[in-house]
Amino acid sequence: MSKHAEEVREFYNQYGAREWDRLNSTIYMRINFLLHMDFMKEYLVPGAKVLDAGCGAGRYAVEFARMGCEVTLFDISDEQLRIAKEKVDEANLSSSLNAVIQGDIRDLSMFQDDTFDVVICYGAPLSYIIEGRELAVKELARVAKPSGMVALSVNNKWGILKMLLGNQYPDFFNNKEYWYIDQVIETGDLPRHEQVSHPARHFFEAAELQALMSQAKLQDITLAGSPLFSCGNSNQVNEMGKDEKAYETILDIELRTYTNPTMVDNGEFLLAKARK
Ligand SMILES: C[S@@+](CC[C@H](N)C(=O)[O-])C[C@H]1O[C@@H](n2cnc3c(N)ncnc32)[C@H](O)[C@@H]1O
Repeated sequence: MSKHAEEVREFYNQYGAREWDRLNSTIYMRINFLLHMDFMKEYLVPGAKVLDAGCGAGRYAVEFARMGCEVTLFDISDEQLRIAKEKVDEANLSSSLNAVIQGDIRDLSMFQDDTFDVVICYGAPLSYIIEGRELAVKELARVAKPSGMVALSVNNKWGILKMLLGNQYPDFFNNKEYWYIDQVIETGDLPRHEQVSHPARHFFEAAELQALMSQAKLQDITLAGSPLFSCGNSNQVNEMGKDEKAYETILDIELRTYTNPTMVDNGEFLLAKARK
């Protein structure tokens, strides 16, 4: 395992159960979860064989199992896998679990070609890959069945900057060199930084993710942003969304806009789905 991959594994081993809480921690994050689920709902049918690649603590995996899918948990972090398995067991869904496997999405050689109906790689595992993103997407495509679906979500370059602006993060936009703002805009890469707990990451643009999927010979690519309408305004959404009617309106606007091709580069996460 490369030094960086080891660092990612260690980071998520330490991160532990916080990863389970993340998607349910705020109204904004719950909208993020609902949009990711909405994006693939028509393919998550009973009996579908699903690879959850970079499953983390299993928030999505538990939902896939609840929908009747047969789920394989896969992650680089043994601790995240342990939590994900525990969450599936706690939900009485162990019979929906096909396998629990530790590994790196750049090497899925433990799976044969054409194995899964649906391959999901949500919550930005690809953003933790500095070298070999092409290989990872090719591997994810290889293990999908012919006509199967591959869905990815990654960190968006413009979305992260909008979030920092919206949250009025102090001493950021006046400290361009220190925060590598030009480098992130030009290359997408944020190197390891003394004030960022995460390992080095890559932030994507829509055209780049689309190109990666095309190179992997995936077809009929659909892009989305999540959250998109709300990105950069999480505090406002968390406050105003306490009112049920306001929450419903915000969610409705998200659902109407999140796959709008002219808007997708404005979301926190960038999503893409395609058919093999
Ligand atoms: C932010 S979490 C997302 C978890 C889950 N998919 C979700 O969206 O809630 C990112 C996960 O990707 C995993 N990961 C990062 N790089 C990976 C790699 N190269 N191969 C497999 N898993 C990886 C991490 O260990 C972590 O559990």
